[in-house]
Amino acid sequence: MRIDIISAIPELLESPLSHSIMQRAQDKGLVEINLINLRNFGLGPHRQIDDYQYGGGAGMVMMIEPLFNCIESLKKERVYEHVIYMTPDGDVLNQAISNKLSLCGNIILICGHYKGIDDRLREHVVTMEISIGEYVLSGGELAAAVLVDSIARLIPGVLNDSTSALFDSFQDDMIAPPVYTRPENFNGWTVPKVLLSGHDKNISDWRYEQSQSRTLKRKKQFSSDQNE
Ligand code: ADE
Repeated sequence: MRIDIISAIPELLESPLSHSIMQRAQDKGLVEINLINLRNFGLGPHRQIDDYQYGGGAGMVMMIEPLFNCIESLKKERVYEHVIYMTPDGDVLNQAISNKLSLCGNIILICGHYKGIDDRLREHVVTMEISIGEYVLSGGELAAAVLVDSIARLIPGVLNDSTSALFDSFQDDMIAPPVYTRPENFNGWTVPKVLLSGHDKNISDWRYEQSQSRTLKRKKQFSSDQNE
């Protein structure tokens, strides 16, 4: 899978995408991530990428030409399944969206800044708009890093234990069961006995029950938060 990320500040993405699982995914050739500096497509001697908004009002808007030209140059090389705009008013990211995107061959992510991008791009070029939550970040880069991480770990071969992504929380709308490691007793806080029993069936039953009760508890919490 190839992910091209267009950003005015690509440095913001370098660290999150160059360690641990994300780096391994790239080293193994399973995911290719390209950071594209939008300034390279900026207009004029100052490589301008933003301008005042028509109609007045505070805040700059990312101009249509640099983004459009950048996306066109990418599209000349290959076909993309999606051009995704990271924005707080997009569809809120969930596991189903990540699962779907992990099946794509090539996608483009646009990281917004300032007041956002010229709306004509959203109308004519962007095919998906994704938010990582109902709060506003200073730019789309951190949101893009979250999206890319959630997609990459689903690509077969990226995780060492090929089954472990299947047991992630939310993969089947269930929260993952609790996990423990050594020591068995820390300050009198002990590990559930069943996990030390070596009895596979009892362990998997216990994990399933824990998942169910945690999921139920979270759903109750969620609906009471919504009613507040
Ligand atoms: N850009 C700014 N805030 C964002 C958010 N919450 N999700 C995605 N992109 C964003």
